[in-house]
Amino acid sequence: MKIAVLVSGRGSNLRALVAATRDGRVPAEVVGVFSDKPACAALAFAREAGIPALARAPKDYADRDAHDDALFTEIARVQPDLIVCAGYLRIIGAAALMRFENRMLNIHPSLLPKYPGLHTHAKALAAGDAEHGASVHSVIPALDAGPVLAQARIPVRPGDDPDALAERLLPREHALLVASVALVAEGRMRLRDDHLLLDGERL
Ligand code: GRF
Repeated sequence: MKIAVLVSGRGSNLRALVAATRDGRVPAEVVGVFSDKPACAALAFAREAGIPALARAPKDYADRDAHDDALFTEIARVQPDLIVCAGYLRIIGAAALMRFENRMLNIHPSLLPKYPGLHTHAKALAAGDAEHGASVHSVIPALDAGPVLAQARIPVRPGDDPDALAERLLPREHALLVASVALVAEGRMRLRDDHLLLDGERL
């Protein structure tokens, strides 16, 4: 299976995924890494790892659709079976999503449907939640709203601040993303815009 990864930042989820494809835990290859941020660490890692990597900066385009169109035209060139959004911090318009319907996953640092969008760790703390976590979900036009494939949970501890919570969650995110992509690459999980199929069973 050929995977394209979308990134905007540090790239720790990308690193975890590439490692898992290279040591055989995920039967797939990351064939391209794409970004809206030309200088991000994730792109630099991809290049060091020998993976084709390119960015298209939104400021060079007239509007969201024009930027999406440019980026997703590049993504289409690598003919991915699956697109993984691993810390891609831009909303993707419906027209671009339609091109890859049911072939896109996102990892989001909250127990969806709680806390779509940004600042999820602070939101969980402000709400006094006893648990926090991360979700992998299928991407649909509504933000962070597609069917949830899998979640990882951690307890919130007294004295946690958003940074501490984020740091404790991160290794669980990596494991969750790798396990989820493995299910898809093994053909056990299929994405749909309103549900998921696991081993042929509708979830
Ligand atoms: C992760 O917390 C991910 O869930 C969120 O953005 C962060 C990206 O981290 N969407 P990294 O770039 O993978 O290190």
